[in-house]
Amino acid sequence: MSSTLSALLYLAASVAFIMSLRGLSSPETARAGNFWGIAGMAIAVLTTLAQPGMQVSLWMLLAMAIGGGGGLYIAARIEMTALPQLVAAFHSLVGLAAVLVAVAAFYSPASFGIGVPGAIKLGSLIEMGLGTAIGAITFTGSIVAFAKLQGLRSRALEALPMQHQINAVLAATCVVLLAWFCLTGNEAALWLLILATLVMGWFLIIPIGGADMPVVVSMLNSYSGWAACGIGFTLQNTALIVTGALVGSSGAILSYVMCKGMNRSIFNVILGGFGTDASAGAAAGAAKEQRPVKSGSAEDAAFIMKNAASVIIVPGYGMAVAQAQHALREMADMLKKEGATVRYAIHPVAGRMPGHMNVLLAEANVPYDEVLELDEINRDFAQTDVAFVIGANDVTNPAAKNDPKSSIYGMPILDVEKAKTVLFVKRSMATGYAGVENELFFRDNTMMLFGDAKKVCEEVVKSIGGGGH
Ligand code: TAP
Repeated sequence: MSSTLSALLYLAASVAFIMSLRGLSSPETARAGNFWGIAGMAIAVLTTLAQPGMQVSLWMLLAMAIGGGGGLYIAARIEMTALPQLVAAFHSLVGLAAVLVAVAAFYSPASFGIGVPGAIKLGSLIEMGLGTAIGAITFTGSIVAFAKLQGLRSRALEALPMQHQINAVLAATCVVLLAWFCLTGNEAALWLLILATLVMGWFLIIPIGGADMPVVVSMLNSYSGWAACGIGFTLQNTALIVTGALVGSSGAILSYVMCKGMNRSIFNVILGGFGTDASAGAAAGAAKEQRPVKSGSAEDAAFIMKNAASVIIVPGYGMAVAQAQHALREMADMLKKEGATVRYAIHPVAGRMPGHMNVLLAEANVPYDEVLELDEINRDFAQTDVAFVIGANDVTNPAAKNDPKSSIYGMPILDVEKAKTVLFVKRSMATGYAGVENELFFRDNTMMLFGDAKKVCEEVVKSIGGGGH
């Protein structure tokens, strides 16, 4: 294949990736976005395999079959609720690949056209060093993020005393090792750099907890992109450079958006000062647990909502767990028939991944114009008869506004408490992801509807249909 043709094909792949990102930015066009992504990756892989001098070996085909087959198998079986940890696991593989390619290039520089052993070009050493460091941090950092999202518990995942100071020393060590490697191309420097950055990735993510994990996952997503981009330079592969930069920059933008949604600065998150105090909130919650709460049945809820002129539905992680979106839409349709205005309020970090609620509601064919972001709808709660909170907890918790000691303090929340009546659908009095007690459960205008989200919706539908009270 001529170099002009391969440059053109790589350009076509890059355009397909940009179309993919564009498509994925809205549920309406997400399927088309996915298609563009697959097409771009197919073009990039086939073009690479058709490069002059490329010997396609059985090993390469076998590796692709295992990777592709594994990906297909996982994608077909994965539960929606486990997607965030899957994404973290995939990021770790991108990081590991970056490290392995850099090591291969170091020991066999001639095959990559970057010099001979012991005399690798300075520019290539810098690309390799940065790719290795970012890749290793992404690898172990993503493993920790996976373990935390999966809810695994181990002493290795607990922060050490003086963790921040240790991290500062480690970061300085990594910088020194990186400079040593780039300036000398020394073998020991490379391995020490890999070791130090592997430990750095682990320690960097350990202290981050509570409600901050969404930002961490998108930050690691960005790192994995930059690691791939660095390796693209070593391999002199334009498609990899462009793809890596796209992933790196879109991940960085997403992290920024998430930070804005959480009202945090990115440094605050990375330094891990926030989200580590969740146990204090949980402990305080345990003491309060004996207070009385008002709980009602599905018929009570049906009666209240049938008489409401306006209802705002606030979905959260529990709706995803229960797969309640279809039953919920059916309930909303019935309420609309009864004359109520029904809208959905989406918090930027509701659920466990960006856009989680939007995807589920789109799957249930909820009209897009009924689904509103926090900024668009928050003021309307005060004029609303019923806030129907289904499997959401942290995103409604006023501790984020009132309790400076709370791990979620500062996060914007949906002001459901301002509605005339707040109905909370959940199975128990348990806390949400951040482990913080929700004061709203004990308020006079709150009624708890204990049960699985899908079941409760189905029962409410039955009660409305059957005439309720
Ligand atoms: P959470 O605060 O985690 O609350 C979810 C609630 O759903 C729980 O209190 C749980 O109570 C209830 N629930 C679980 N299964 C249920 C079921 N089958 N039926 C009914 N209820 C059920 O969720 P949220 O309000 O959506 O807030 C999201 C939290 O996750 C935030 O803290 C956010 O920072 C964090 N987070 C977000 C992301 C992204 S990117 N969105 C990623 C990682 C973490 P019961 O156990 O009593 O039922």
